[in-house]
This record gives sequence, structure tokens and C-alpha cells, in this order.
Amino acid sequence: KNLEEYSYFAETAIFVPLKAFITKEIHNNTMEKKFKRTTVTSALPYANGPVHIGHLAGVYVPADIYVRYLRLKKEDVIFIGGSDEHGVPITIRAKKEGITPQDVVDRYHTLIKKSFEEFGVSFDVYSRTTSKTHHDTASDFFRKLYDKGEFIEKTSMQYYDEEAKTFLADRYITGECPHCHAEGAYGDQCEKCGTSLSPTDLINPKSAISGSQPVMRETKHWYLPLDKHEEWLRQWILEDHKEWRPNVYGQCKSWLDMGLQPRAVSRDLDWGIPVPVEGAEGKVLYVWFDAPIGYISNTKELLPDTWEKWWKDPETRLVHFIGKDNIVFHCIVFPAMLKAEGSYILPDNVPSNEFLNLEGDKIFHFHATGRYGCTSISLTSPASRMCCATC
Ligand code: 2FM
Ligand code: ZN
Repeated sequence: KNLEEYSYFAETAIFVPLKAFITKEIHNNTMEKKFKRTTVTSALPYANGPVHIGHLAGVYVPADIYVRYLRLKKEDVIFIGGSDEHGVPITIRAKKEGITPQDVVDRYHTLIKKSFEEFGVSFDVYSRTTSKTHHDTASDFFRKLYDKGEFIEKTSMQYYDEEAKTFLADRYITGECPHCHAEGAYGDQCEKCGTSLSPTDLINPKSAISGSQPVMRETKHWYLPLDKHEEWLRQWILEDHKEWRPNVYGQCKSWLDMGLQPRAVSRDLDWGIPVPVEGAEGKVLYVWFDAPIGYISNTKELLPDTWEKWWKDPETRLVHFIGKDNIVFHCIVFPAMLKAEGSYILPDNVPSNEFLNLEGDKIFHFHATGRYGCTSISLTSPASRMCCATC
């Protein structure tokens, strides 16, 4: 829409941080570690809406430039992308539109894939988490952890809709917010005042499916005991990866300092990959359990015979480009899953950008944190681009 704004955006939001990242890469690779090949992944976008400029700026353009840079250097590199096609929001959209979740993901997977192609993002593979390869890979991964005793099983009380005969995900329960008393707050968050909630915090909870008052029912789930992984995670991130970006390192540190808790890796839902153990009818893998395994499945689709060296050889460098909301899953949860499985390498870097918000349809605010960053400058006033000591 406005070339001047776009070029300022491109320079500030993409090239400056990326140049710093690549300079550091060169330093790391020549001074400290030598890797033979690089597996680059970029966060799998939910097939629940189109990709927008924030996605491109934060994740896909930086990853693409990095991959192109490695290719120019004639390094061995693969660039893995794909759509994330499970999770509750997809089922909510399907219900609203009176179509199936498969219809939703078919529509958006096609649209997103085309957008990436037209924008010139040079993935080596762009697949989807509803593929058979992915179902089998994620299912086998869960089963291996289950057989090794890497999960704990817990029963808890959860809201159940007796009319619709289904357990209710947090987003499917609405009610009055206990803080601001707005109606229509969700079981995980009040959109009016922004407070995070549990479904049991809501006053007069109602099922978003049938409108009836839900009842509490016992349900069993599988949990990854992150607390058992805390010690090595502390060493690996806080001591061995001090070079990670300040926003990534800082967020990990604050999670670790709060103490890690077991995290449920299954859900009561009819959309997703069935939990592959007996007595798990009606339960699927939690979307954040299966999605990162999608990177592995998509590599298998690209390289059916040689995928393992890209994921298991310590001479492979694994780099995850992600958005700011994905830090904990890529730096703590997925590495704990990989470590628990036992045969995989861990990411060597997890670059995450945290600088762009779209507000309305014209104002861009950059919220870069850390060493390249400013706290809040507006594209509408580029004169103020020098906004902090570091800048
Ligand atoms: O935040 C998101 O859009 C998620 N779909 C990212 C998943 S990244 C990976 F785990 F697949
Ligand atoms: Zn509220």
C-alpha cells in the first residue's frame, strides 16, 4: 500500500536483525562448532486463516533469507514448512460455518501454500499435519514415549456437555468473567480484560455447543513430566546457549525459574490424531504435541530414505524459526519430547522475532526487545527510529 512504509519496515524489521543473526552464525560456525548440514524449520501456521504480513516478517522471510544464504554458500540445507491442521480453533470455525474441520484445513492449506509460493518463500517441502505420514509418525512417537514410561497418567475433573455428549475444551465454555464481569468470557481467557482464566473461574458457565450448563466429569489424560526434565534443560539453555536471542533466552529463563510442571499431551476432542493406547477412545494428541513432530514427518516426505541424518546426526544443525508465542514449545516442550524419545538431536538455535504488531489497517508498531531493539516506534513517524541506547 505504501512503499516507503514497507521499505522502512523491511529494513528495520527484517534486515537489521537478520544481518546480526547471520553475522553471529558465521562466528559460531567458524569459531566454535562445525556442522555438516542444516535443517531449517519454520513454524507451521494454523490452517485456520490466511497468512499475513506479520507471519511473513516474523518467521518466513527471515528463514527464507537464511536458507538462501546457506544455499549460496553451497552448504547442505533443507527448509521445512507445512500447515498445522489440528487443534480446537479449527473445530470451532467448522461448527460456525456448518462444514467439517477437514473442509476448513483443505481451504486454508491450499490458500497458505499458494501465498508462500507467490511470495517466493523457497520451502523444500510444504506438507500438512493431516497427512498419513504425519499421523503415523506422531502416533509412533507418542507410543514410543508411552512404552518407555515417559508419561504420567492423571485423572482430573473437566466440564462435560450432557446434551452434546462431549467434553468441552476451554474455548467451548463461556460465562461471566470473575474480574471485569463481562459476559461471554472464554474458559481460557476473558477477551474484554485480557485475564487468563480456567473454565472453573467462570460465573454461570455455558457450553458454546449446546448452550446448556455443563457438568463436571472425570477424564484421564497423559502428561509429559517437564519437571523431570528441568535440570538438563537449565544447563542446556541457560549455560550452553547463552547466544540465543535475548527475548528467547529471557522467556526460557523465566519459565525455568518459575519451575516446570507436567503438561497434558492429550485432549478430549474428535479432531486430531487418536491417542494410540487402549482406553483412550475419544481422545486425541494435543495439537502442540503433534505439530512440531510435523517438521519430522515433512522431512520424511521430502527425503523418505535419508530423513534420519537430518534429525539424528549430531553433525546436523537444527534451527527453528518461530513466532514469539511459540518460544516455550520449541525451547522447552519439544526438546523434552525429543530427549525423552532418545534418538534425536536438539535445536542449536531458535530465532524468534518479537517486533511487529498490526494495529488497525495502517499503523505498524515495532516491539523489538533486546539488543537490536526498540520498545515502541511507529512507522508513521520514522524520524523517531533511534529510540533507545542500543539502537
Ligand atoms: O502458532 C502457530 O501458528 C502454531 N501453529 C505454530 C506451530 S509450530 C510447530 F510446532 F509446528
Ligand atoms: Zn474480564
